[in-house]
Amino acid sequence: MTETFLDKAYTARDTDSTRQLYDDWSASYEVEIGENGYATPKRCAEALAEFAPDKSLPLLDFGCGTGLAGLALRNAGFETIDGVDLSSEMINQAKSKNIYRTLTQIEPDTDIGENHMLMSAVGVIGAGAAPISTLDKLLHALPSKGLLVFSFNDHALAESENIGRLNEWLDCGAAVLLFSEYGDHLPGQGINSTVYVVEKA
Ligand SMILES: C[S@@+](CC[C@H](N)C(=O)[O-])C[C@H]1O[C@@H](n2cnc3c(N)ncnc32)[C@H](O)[C@@H]1O
Repeated sequence: MTETFLDKAYTARDTDSTRQLYDDWSASYEVEIGENGYATPKRCAEALAEFAPDKSLPLLDFGCGTGLAGLALRNAGFETIDGVDLSSEMINQAKSKNIYRTLTQIEPDTDIGENHMLMSAVGVIGAGAAPISTLDKLLHALPSKGLLVFSFNDHALAESENIGRLNEWLDCGAAVLLFSEYGDHLPGQGINSTVYVVEKA
């Protein structure tokens, strides 16, 4: 049987091979994960909408990919969305959706600024994508009282380091957990995810 991109996606890898995976996957990504009922973008967008005080505030969609999370965020009422991603080919796909105010290709050490009171990282942190240090990067960049919505799929939840890092932020009061819900991620593959909304202290 031919190996799909989803088969390859959950192997931990370095920055260059992660970028290569998503550059190669960009043209068929939406079809493949759409066939598997990708549910996390809508769940994340609706969770953030529940807590966001003002949906016109600029929102940074980190690891925006082809724009599926941006689309769900737009459908949930968010008006001003900036997208950043490691893969220029994923960004090229996102451009055609015309939902992002800006789209920027970034490297792991790119400074993402501190200009967004709202942030999302949907399907981004965990094996096969961005490392858990990304959670620190996002929470450090988030201004006080800013909100971050993100997801850990079952593969990310299985790595204790990921929940451990989130708990480090929560246990010392540097961030507050507003929402956490386990549910569908890719039902066609039997994979679930937990969606979190946290507020920076
Ligand atoms: C599974 S896709 C999710 C894309 C989109 N958020 C969605 O829900 O469809 C993961 C995305 O994270 C991006 N990514 C992986 N590591 C990254 C990093 N260190 N910085 C920025 N983006 C990264 C990949 O290029 C890819 O587009």
